[in-house]
Amino acid sequence: MENLLELRDIHAAYDQIQVLNGVDLAVPAGSVFALLGANGAGKTTTLRVIAGLHQPTSGEVVVAGRCVNGAHPEELARRGLCLIPEGRGIFPNLTVMEHLRMAARSRLPLAEVEAIAFDRFPRLAERRHQMAGTLSGGEQQMLAMARGLATKPALLLLDELSMGLAPLVVESLYEVVAQIASEGVSILVVEQIAQTVLKVADYAAVMVHGKVAKVGRPADLEGELSAAYFGT
Ligand SMILES: Nc1ncnc2c1ncn2[C@@H]1O[C@H](COP(=O)(O)OP(=O)(O)OP(=O)(O)O)[C@@H](O)[C@H]1O
Ligand SMILES: [Mg+2]
Repeated sequence: MENLLELRDIHAAYDQIQVLNGVDLAVPAGSVFALLGANGAGKTTTLRVIAGLHQPTSGEVVVAGRCVNGAHPEELARRGLCLIPEGRGIFPNLTVMEHLRMAARSRLPLAEVEAIAFDRFPRLAERRHQMAGTLSGGEQQMLAMARGLATKPALLLLDELSMGLAPLVVESLYEVVAQIASEGVSILVVEQIAQTVLKVADYAAVMVHGKVAKVGRPADLEGELSAAYFGT
């Protein structure tokens, strides 16, 4: 199958400190790919490199067969990349509708953005006039995902979807992730905890100290996961 995204030997640093030490990754079109690893392994940095927010010191980022090193985040967004960052990037003092209006401004009619958001997340429709800061954590993640989907992404990058959420909420969000993927969107999702994401992931990789230590089908990774998290 064709890869929508490839990372080839990516190195990256903050100041002089090297944090990615040769990351190789291939995300097949239409798949859910889980990128796992402990605190500080370099997962968020990897997503930031893909989204054009952090320049690698060497290596190639290839999207749909084309090297996109040095491309602006906005240009990458136009080509279908959408990053939903750690902490979700929503504005506490704006309502749900105001978020959707902002999303619409970039490319689609508001009615279409509303349909994308509210068909997928009916809870958001009930809360359309509520300040985002007073939404529950799960609802905030729904809003962040709705806003991302409004860009009609080809590749959705999700950083710790599950952060701070109850297990049942995480499970229902991952059902939505699986649905989105079944409609043809490729999804690269970062998590520290593997359990729930591995139920929907087609592939997974484990990052250790700025490198991919192992990649495979979820079932093949169990040994590697305990090594990554418990240092065995
Ligand atoms: N802006 C920054 N300036 C300097 N160092 C940074 C910066 N962002 C991250 N780092 C360092 O880079 C390393 C990798 O961080 P990164 O955020 O990519 O890890 P992560 O796998 O996402 O971790 P977590 O699971 O805790 O979110 C860490 O050692 C971190 O301290
Ligand atoms: Mg992180």
